[in-house]
Amino acid sequence: MSAEPLSGKTIVITGATGQVAEPVAVALAKENQVIGAARFRNDVARSRLEAAGVRCVPIDLASGDVSGLPVDADYVVSFAVVKSNDWNIDLDANSGGLAFLMEHHQNAKAFIHCSSTAVYKPMGHHVFAEEDQLGDSHGVWPFLRTYSICKIAAEATARWAARRFELPTTIARLSVPYGDRGGWPAIHLEMMLNGAAIPVHIDAPSVYHPLHEEDIFGMIPSLLAAARVPATVVNWGGDEGVSIEAWCGYLSELTGIEARFEPTASTIDSVQIDLSRMHALVGTTTVPWRDGLRRMVATRHPELLKD
Ligand SMILES: NC(=O)c1ccc[n+]([C@@H]2O[C@H](COP(=O)([O-])OP(=O)(O)OC[C@H]3O[C@@H](n4cnc5c(N)ncnc54)[C@H](OP(=O)(O)O)[C@@H]3O)[C@@H](O)[C@H]2O)c1
Repeated sequence: MSAEPLSGKTIVITGATGQVAEPVAVALAKENQVIGAARFRNDVARSRLEAAGVRCVPIDLASGDVSGLPVDADYVVSFAVVKSNDWNIDLDANSGGLAFLMEHHQNAKAFIHCSSTAVYKPMGHHVFAEEDQLGDSHGVWPFLRTYSICKIAAEATARWAARRFELPTTIARLSVPYGDRGGWPAIHLEMMLNGAAIPVHIDAPSVYHPLHEEDIFGMIPSLLAAARVPATVVNWGGDEGVSIEAWCGYLSELTGIEARFEPTASTIDSVQIDLSRMHALVGTTTVPWRDGLRRMVATRHPELLKD
């Protein structure tokens, strides 16, 4: 259950300019020496990180170059993901790049590999526990055709490296992260603003477990404390299952903007998850989804809030 907040540690965070990692890096940098790693294609995000006290170190997971990172880091939290949609690049970077990273940090106290509930085989409204069937859920999206398979491949790498290097590891299968920095609900809000129809699966409703960025940050110490050899695998999502239809409906309520849905079989299916293991290892989430969405709108589009 809930571990003490981290302070005075050296923590490497990969994918630091990304939606999920940036708020974690910024928050951890208040009490720790945080090294943010990425290629830094996004200068604005890099500047925000540096302003928050994060030391930015370029790496490239596709080539396996992680040599600039401190080998004596206490903890590593790996959020980087490569979605070029090219099989060779994405397999090399997400699986091979992770192997280089875990080898480099084999003396760390603990390692978190951020995976995804995209590793589960589409099975309608089945509630997935960690031992359930894996499959290519995101292959249905041509623009993310490599995603699920590369996330599964990366899990296999993390499992191997945990045993090979006796590096305590947690593989956390993240559902739908969101918050002030964005996320799927924020994309839906932009679609609503543009009058675009929102794809939902024909096997309605399309249910996930939105997890607010504050809970993501808050759970990092416990996910590190849960790291083991062989690796701990745990679902990672908000306590409440919420459908796209419900969260877009609430965004409509907040803003008065209509949400139009387009039911289709050519989009990802529901992924409801069993959170028993997360609750036992890490605890429960604290940000109710309606509060989190209201905060997201207030930050990203304050002019849209009706009250
Ligand atoms: N967002 C979601 O809805 C969602 C849902 C479930 C799970 N997840 C998982 O959560 C994690 C974070 O996702 P995210 O949405 O925050 O990702 P993101 O916004 O796409 O960010 C990806 C990060 O990886 C870095 N990166 C890309 N190519 C790289 C390379 N070759 N070498 C080193 N770094 C590279 C990017 O920076 P540069 O381009 O500058 O290198 C960026 O910092 C991922 O593991 C993802 O699979 C996300």
